[in-house]
Amino acid sequence: MGVISFARGMPGPDLLPIAEFADCARAALERDGATALNYGPPGGYPPLREWIAGRHDIDPGRVIVTNGSLQGFSFVARHLVKGGARFIVEAPCYDRSLSILRRLGAEVEQIELADDGLDIDALAGTVRAGDVVYTIPTFQNPSGRTLSRENRFRLIELVRERGALVFEDDPYGELRFEGDPLPRLFELADGQGVVFLSSFSKTVAPGIRTGYVILPEELVPEIEALVLENYVSPAIFVEAALYDFVTGGGYEPNLERVRDGLRIRRDAMTSALGRELAESATWSRPEGGYFLWLDLPTGVSGEALLTRASEDDVTFIKGADFFFHGGGEEAARLAYSFATAPEIDKGIGRLGRLVRAAAAVAA
Ligand SMILES: Cc1ncc(COP(=O)(O)O)c(C=O)c1O
Repeated sequence: MGVISFARGMPGPDLLPIAEFADCARAALERDGATALNYGPPGGYPPLREWIAGRHDIDPGRVIVTNGSLQGFSFVARHLVKGGARFIVEAPCYDRSLSILRRLGAEVEQIELADDGLDIDALAGTVRAGDVVYTIPTFQNPSGRTLSRENRFRLIELVRERGALVFEDDPYGELRFEGDPLPRLFELADGQGVVFLSSFSKTVAPGIRTGYVILPEELVPEIEALVLENYVSPAIFVEAALYDFVTGGGYEPNLERVRDGLRIRRDAMTSALGRELAESATWSRPEGGYFLWLDLPTGVSGEALLTRASEDDVTFIKGADFFFHGGGEEAARLAYSFATAPEIDKGIGRLGRLVRAAAAVAA
């Protein structure tokens, strides 16, 4: 029996633009090989920086292209924590960002997510000048939840009023396969008071390790100094190939393909969950992105379930891993991005049996 993984947020092999990217790698070398194969500036391959800046309608000098967006998070968090900022994070929240904050010794407060994203009333009760509100507003990792339009406006107004900074992490926003698009916080705030982070890991491929951060102008020299402390140059060649990919007509059709593949997988997962667990558990129904959040029946521990599921060749990440100060013990994050629809159906079948058995013991 093969292992069916709902654990890592990785795209399935059919979602990767392998042949298209090969063509772009060659085209980049032929077009600009002497630059692509040399050291480059800390902010990244200049044409790609300009293309990103154009999409966000800002000055290219505010964009730093990093080796994946988690690296951008790490640089910015390092700088802000050193300056004494307190971080307010969502509960649950992307586990790798939480580990970085933990290692930095950051002061962190967690705020529960509601069905429509960050609880703005709870935030209003705590946020103060100098805080950083780290949020993944669209198809959140791990919950798949999305901040409503109304709450996006409220959030921007609140942080402005209090003098806090928003740190918006948005690797999934373009992977909407259902429903109406929502504005980014960065756009609602006219690019002021929001540090914006995004990635090509989910829209193109994680292996190219290309993400970016958009900074307020005054932060750029600081973050570039951190870049130079860490590496001599970003991976200019891959950034040049990506530039060919995004400007040569490859990006939009690829997004369509990825969205379709994800929708089919989401549907396979939610319909299998409906068949297996309608009476005992609840789950989020994302309109895009990679993940859904499964709230297990009362008394069923995510950790114990994971041990049993791994013996049965199904894996996921237990909910508790996504909380800074505790929570999520009876929950799980399920990534539907990797397995095929038939595998998802089979894997949820296995998981369903285990959850029902554990719930019967707990009752
Ligand atoms: C919310 C969030 N931020 C950042 C990342 C890291 O992405 P990258 O591969 O660009 O480093 C991920 C990856 O899963 C993510 O879900």
